[in-house]
Amino acid sequence: MSSGVDSVRDPLDNAWKTLRFPIIKPRELLLLFLKAGIAVSMLLIITLFITLYNQPFYPNNNHTTMKYMLQQKTPEEKASTNISHLLFGIGGSSATWQTRRQYSELWWRPGATRGFVWLESHPPDNTTWPETSPPYRVSGDTSVFKYTCSYGSRSAIRIARIVKESFELGLENVRWFVMGDDDTVFFTDNLVTVLSKYDHNEMYYVGGNSESVEQDVIHFYTMAFGGGGFAISYPLAKELVRILDGCIDRYAEFYGSDQKIQSCISEIGVQVTKEPGFHQVDIHGNPYGLLAAHPVAPLVSLHHLDYVDPIFPNTTRVNAVKKLITAYKMDPGRTLQKSFCYDLRRNWSVSVSWGYSVELYPSLRTSKELETAFETFRTWRTWHDGPFTFNTRPVSVDTCERPHVYVLDGVRNVDGDMTRSWYRKTVDASGKECAREEYARALEVQYVDVYASRFVPDKWKKAPRRQCCEIMDGADGVNSSVVRVKIRGCRRFESVTPS
Ligand SMILES: *[C@@H]1O[C@H](CO)[C@@H](O)[C@H](O)[C@H]1NC(C)=O
Ligand SMILES: *[C@@H]1O[C@H](CO)[C@@H](O)[C@H](O)[C@H]1NC(C)=O
Ligand SMILES: *[C@@H]1O[C@H](CO)[C@@H](O)[C@H](O)[C@H]1NC(C)=O
Ligand SMILES: *[C@@H]1O[C@H](CO)[C@@H](O)[C@H](O)[C@H]1NC(C)=O
Ligand SMILES: *[C@@H]1O[C@H](CO)[C@@H](O)[C@H](O)[C@H]1NC(C)=O
Ligand SMILES: *[C@@H]1O[C@H](CO)[C@@H](O)[C@H](O)[C@H]1NC(C)=O
Repeated sequence: MSSGVDSVRDPLDNAWKTLRFPIIKPRELLLLFLKAGIAVSMLLIITLFITLYNQPFYPNNNHTTMKYMLQQKTPEEKASTNISHLLFGIGGSSATWQTRRQYSELWWRPGATRGFVWLESHPPDNTTWPETSPPYRVSGDTSVFKYTCSYGSRSAIRIARIVKESFELGLENVRWFVMGDDDTVFFTDNLVTVLSKYDHNEMYYVGGNSESVEQDVIHFYTMAFGGGGFAISYPLAKELVRILDGCIDRYAEFYGSDQKIQSCISEIGVQVTKEPGFHQVDIHGNPYGLLAAHPVAPLVSLHHLDYVDPIFPNTTRVNAVKKLITAYKMDPGRTLQKSFCYDLRRNWSVSVSWGYSVELYPSLRTSKELETAFETFRTWRTWHDGPFTFNTRPVSVDTCERPHVYVLDGVRNVDGDMTRSWYRKTVDASGKECAREEYARALEVQYVDVYASRFVPDKWKKAPRRQCCEIMDGADGVNSSVVRVKIRGCRRFESVTPS
């Protein structure tokens, strides 16, 4: 500080020193109280204004309004989301229902799931509607709407309007409208787990993209693909149905119902919330690579299963899905979840895709490699080797570079909250086996036995993390044809690091 400033300050400091014992007169005291009173009143008024302006604006002053103003929720509203809060709308056709119903009936639970298959016309008089199918409704006439996409089908209009027609049924306690195709397989427990993460009183549009980049380019990256299924929360549906019919004409040039829905939701300004468990399955060939590299998220849906190889070898498409469902029923949240572990005594790597497959590598492979999908499939439209919306690794032509693959054989309960799932060795596609000496021991393994405790669905509400595993028998294992693996939550500072 400069001396100039000090010299100015000095006289003032001295003045304060002389006022060490100030005497307050009664008149000054009264004035002080008055000022304090005014200040407090001002504060109160400001607080009141802030509080009032923060209240939501409700025009009517009835009981419901008061309840919302007091921020109270009924027990019904507070209860967490369950299957009864979902209303499914399946896009179907009376011409194809008899063949497509096999996929819907895999997940439809009469008496538990709510919803309808929407048909273009009543089924033929001589056919009775199966009790195992969702009940049907006949869609309204769409002949007044415009459709100008040269390569598409007008049925897109009818399918797009399912959300509106479902909403207009006015059913009670619907939190989510879930749309899907007649060949979509939903894993409803996981769908409920995923949706219950979101506040159904907010406007949400939840779903996933296509796996084939070409499809996301032609349609939209911003869209939830209809075959993989998507969910629209009640408040969003309420705004959507008001403008949907207008949108259908405004977006007449778009091919699909899902594009029309997304375009309309774009007018509301809501974006898709992507959930990696919805699978459009826009691929051709063997879906093994896709399924065996599932992201760390619950499996919600599978679609297009008639267009890919059966998901398990040596069985029909539907029976293969049924097999996956037997595992899913035992532990929904764990289905397709991956775990990697090493056997450092034998230098083996094991990659488990729970309920589906196990890969055994007679060498140490990085976690990064193990999490990458084998490219066993091609793109949807052009049958090219990519690009996909995720990275892939080629399947080597050298059998010694390929893992031994084991596929699900069975699952059973052990000790109440544990499961034992076992996986049987498959024959390599080439019919050959690696002849190198160091592979001989791994070749002896015929089964992999996987023990795991049941996955607690609430874990999916936390930051997702892949679970850890360990190989239970060492190199001295009694039965060299079996490898036993235990899956468990990872310990602190535990990682898949060979050391
Ligand atoms: C009460 O207010 C709510 C919210 O504004 C409204 O939805 C409801 O229809 C009203 N009920 C009556 C009886 O006016
Ligand atoms: C779902 O939750 C509601 C409360 O919102 C409850 O009444 C109903 O019993 C629950 N249903 C199932 C199947 O858990
Ligand atoms: C139902 O009737 C149609 C014609 O009316 C016929 O072509 C069809 O074969 C019949 N189906 C069955 C299951 O009887
Ligand atoms: C394929 O399935 C049939 C009948 O279930 C069975 O007999 C046959 O051994 C299986 N083949 C392979 C390679 O698993
Ligand atoms: C495992 O790999 C390490 C490092 O490559 C090597 O030193 C060790 O001898 C191998 N052990 C066996 C049993 O092959
Ligand atoms: C090893 O396990 C397999 C499969 O569980 C079984 O079939 C076989 O008999 C067992 N071998 C011995 C020696 O215990």
